[in-house]
Amino acid sequence: MGEAEAEELTPHPFRPPPLRPLIADDWAAALALDRRSLGGFWSEALWRGELGRTGSLAFGHDGGGVLLSIACGWVVVDELHITVLATDPGWRRRGLARALLQALAAAAIGRGCTRATLEVASGNGAALALYAAAGFRTAGCRRGYYTNGDDALIQWRSLRGAGDGLCPPAV
Ligand SMILES: CC(C)(COP(=O)(O)OP(=O)(O)OC[C@H]1O[C@@H](n2cnc3c(N)ncnc32)[C@H](O)[C@@H]1OP(=O)(O)O)[C@@H](O)C(=O)NCCC(=O)NCCS
Repeated sequence: MGEAEAEELTPHPFRPPPLRPLIADDWAAALALDRRSLGGFWSEALWRGELGRTGSLAFGHDGGGVLLSIACGWVVVDELHITVLATDPGWRRRGLARALLQALAAAAIGRGCTRATLEVASGNGAALALYAAAGFRTAGCRRGYYTNGDDALIQWRSLRGAGDGLCPPAV
């Protein structure tokens, strides 16, 4: 067997695309990903305002001009409030969202945050599994918060001792 054939048969480990902080100019790519992944969660005006705003943190995986994932958060005193997290439907279950949570956590710890919070729909099994694996715990519920009737589950986790990553045990 030649080298080229052997290369073809050897399974390649998945190499994640580069993860980087997002800047104001990324608003159009963020809007496009939002439409593909979240059905248009934020408007153009909100994305333009969000990226690059003081107090905001935003990261994404760069697919060469196309954004494959995104996570945003606000630093509120010593808390990280995670506002958006999404992965392109064609790139899910490859660890991108987990890596984004780690990047957000590391940046938030660097800005003095000691805990992180977010809200998730009670019917969003994928996101709930991700947050549980990342050490978040449900600490409250807003009944019928979403337009489809789903409850909003309020999640918290401590960032103390999290180092540069999010990992259980939590709180
Ligand atoms: C939720 C979401 C962001 C997860 O993104 P992702 O990049 O696929 O997640 P990851 O690959 O990093 O998953 C990490 C872990 O989370 C859990 N997880 C993620 N998706 C899951 C699913 N569909 N079912 C069960 N567990 C899941 C698993 O524990 C997974 O680890 P594993 O693949 O080793 O088993 C993605 O499904 C998405 O964009 N959904 C639509 C937008 C959304 O709901 N955002 C959250 C709003 S609160």
